[in-house]
Parts: sequence; structure tokens; C-alpha cells
Amino acid sequence: MKIMSIIGARPQLIKAAAVSPALRARHSEVLVHTGQHYDDRMSSDLFAELGIPEPDVNLGVGSGSHGRQTAAMLAGLEELMLETKPDCVLIYGDTNSTVAGALAAAKLNVPIAHVEAGLRSFNRHMPEEVNRVVADHLSSLLFCPTETAVRNLAKEGIVRGVVLVGDVMLDTLEAMSPAIRTAAPARAFGLKNKQYAVATIHRAENTDDPQRLASMLSGLCRLGIPVLFPVHPRTSKAIADAGLALPANLVRCEPLGYVDMIAAVRDARVVVTDSGGLQKEAFWMRTPCVTVRDETEWLETVESGWNVLVGADADRILAAAAAFARASVLSDTTAAQVGASALIVRELEAFELPARS
Ligand code: UD1
Repeated sequence: MKIMSIIGARPQLIKAAAVSPALRARHSEVLVHTGQHYDDRMSSDLFAELGIPEPDVNLGVGSGSHGRQTAAMLAGLEELMLETKPDCVLIYGDTNSTVAGALAAAKLNVPIAHVEAGLRSFNRHMPEEVNRVVADHLSSLLFCPTETAVRNLAKEGIVRGVVLVGDVMLDTLEAMSPAIRTAAPARAFGLKNKQYAVATIHRAENTDDPQRLASMLSGLCRLGIPVLFPVHPRTSKAIADAGLALPANLVRCEPLGYVDMIAAVRDARVVVTDSGGLQKEAFWMRTPCVTVRDETEWLETVESGWNVLVGADADRILAAAAAFARASVLSDTTAAQVGASALIVRELEAFELPARS
């Protein structure tokens, strides 16, 4: 089988790190990088660190408005699909690269398999929510990480081709665990285990609203412990544009590599983030998480008591972090998973591909 996998943004590289090798062991893969993320720290460094195969093609689309960026990807992907004639297109997550891959494949009648299908925040103001809904409704195979995701799809009438496979990000975490075990990145910043917080902010809803951004920075300031703050390029620009000063307890750094980020989360007292991936990674590392959003796609992390949603409110950030410090027992509900990537390959093989005309 010839499968075209489409990646472009950092979290997609982390997911492909698990799926690509499993695919390549038995099939031929055309790996396409749209070029959505192009900074070394956001892209090429991760290929080396996670052992991801070099992309066969990089479309080099770079940044732009949603329309321009997605349109450039769409044009490039359509041409590539016509040239390489894949049996199936594999898309990941909810970025503009995901929706461009879905649209290009659907118009050419190439079956689509969506990894991390069924997630919903029920907030259509988020660009990611729009991307998810479109991608799911165009996909023939929908690989869900959680039971909640399966239920979300059923509510939208999508039941065919839906498979609960577990989380491919957990596969990557397990594969990288020997390196994670020996990493101690916070030490280089003079931070002591469980005496610092780690924070990331990059969602448009948070970065593009100077008031929200200021309120979150004030919440981080009031935590009263050092806060390791790896800054996404979008956030860096937003902080400069809004003329905001970073509180003195923030230890600003460039985006960390995968292993260092997971180890920094493991050793932190608390994580404050608006990232989807980090909410799960904090949970897997058993570090409490304060999510600076109004909703989450990862309900299970909240239900288990390890994650709290606080919006961008400084008082609520502080209160949630303090409550975690007091809580002695949190429930432990992780089920061990059989490799999600292996299940994905098995399902792709079992899937009856419609004959292409
Ligand atoms: C994208 C995804 C988001 C995901 C995130 C992971 C969409 C709609 N959003 O958001 O779901 O959580 O990736 O990081 O696809 N920039 C750089 N260098 C880069 C990449 C971006 O400087 O390598 C800057 C540019 O100013 C750019 C801005 O960041 O305009 C936003 O980048 P973009 O790729 O549009 O979205 P992300 O915010 O990274």
C-alpha cells in the first residue's frame, strides 16, 4: 500500500514519530511536510531528535493568514497527490496542514485516514475546531484517542470507520522514555525539582488578546516560584507587539526539544498551558496541570483531577495551582495502552480501499 502522510506543525511531527516507522515496516510512505512550521526548534531539530524519516517533499509554505497558508498547501498537495497516486492519505490532528490534506484528498477521491479524530472543544471560534470538524467529516477511517472522541463523532452521525486506537503521543513518549529518564533540563536554568512551574502559551485566543495575555502573565507572576517559560514564536511576537514586560520570576527560553520538554514537565511542581499535547503529557508524567483555556478536548484529564480549566484569569490560575499543592491524593486512571500506531497500521490494512477510477 502507498500511503501519503501529511505533517507540518510541531505536534504532528511528534505523532508521526510513532506512526511513520510502523507504516514503513510494511508499506511505502510518502512523507510530506507542508512547511507550516519552519524554525529549527519547531521542526528540523525534532526530526533528528525523534528519528523521524526525512520528508520526501517539503512544500515550504511558511506562515500567512489562514486562507493564504491553507490555499498554498492545498495547491501543493493536490499536485503531489496527482503525481504520486497514493492509496490513502494520512492526516494528523487539527492544524491547517490537516485540513488542507483532507480537502485535497477528498476532491481527488483519495480515502483519508485521520489520526486523532473526534476531538471537540465545541468552540467554533478556534481555528483548530473548524479544521477538526472538516477533517473528520471527510475521512473514511477515523482513529480516535479516547472514548469521548468516539462519542463526539457518533453525535455528528459518524460511526462508520471509527476506531478507538489510543493515543499515538503516548507511543512516542514510551519510545523516548530511556532518554527522558536521564534528562534534567531544568538544572541548566538553576531550577530545583518540584520547586518550579513550567508554562507555555501559544493559542491564538490567548496570544492575540493583549488583555488575556497580560492577565495570564500576572497569574504566572503570582505563583511565587520560578516559571520556566519556553516561548513559541507566535507568543514572542505577541508579547513584543503588546509591549508587555515579563515578570521577574519567569525564566524565558526558546522552545525546548521533545525530551527536555517532557522531562521539564515531569520535574515541575505544576504545568500552566494552553497546549493540547501538554495537558496529556503532564497527566502521563503525573504533574498537575492548570489549563489556561475555557474548554478542553481532553476531558479525561480534568475528570481524573489532574487538570483544571481556568480561562485566562490570574486569580483562578493562582487558586488552581494552590489547590493542587494542598491535594494529597489524585485519582490514577491511566489504562496501559497497546501501541496505537500498530493498531493504526492494522486497521489501514483491513480497510477496503474503494477502487480508484
Ligand atoms: C499551529 C496550529 C496549532 C498547534 C500549533 C503547535 C493551526 C491553525 N494551528 O499553531 O493547532 O497547536 O501549530 O505549535 O494550524 N511562526 C514562526 N516560526 C515557525 C512557525 C510559526 O515564527 O516555525 C510564527 C509566525 O509568526 C506565524 C505564527 O508563528 O505567523 C503562527 O504560526 P502558525 O503555523 O500559523 O500557527 P501556530 O500558532 O504555530
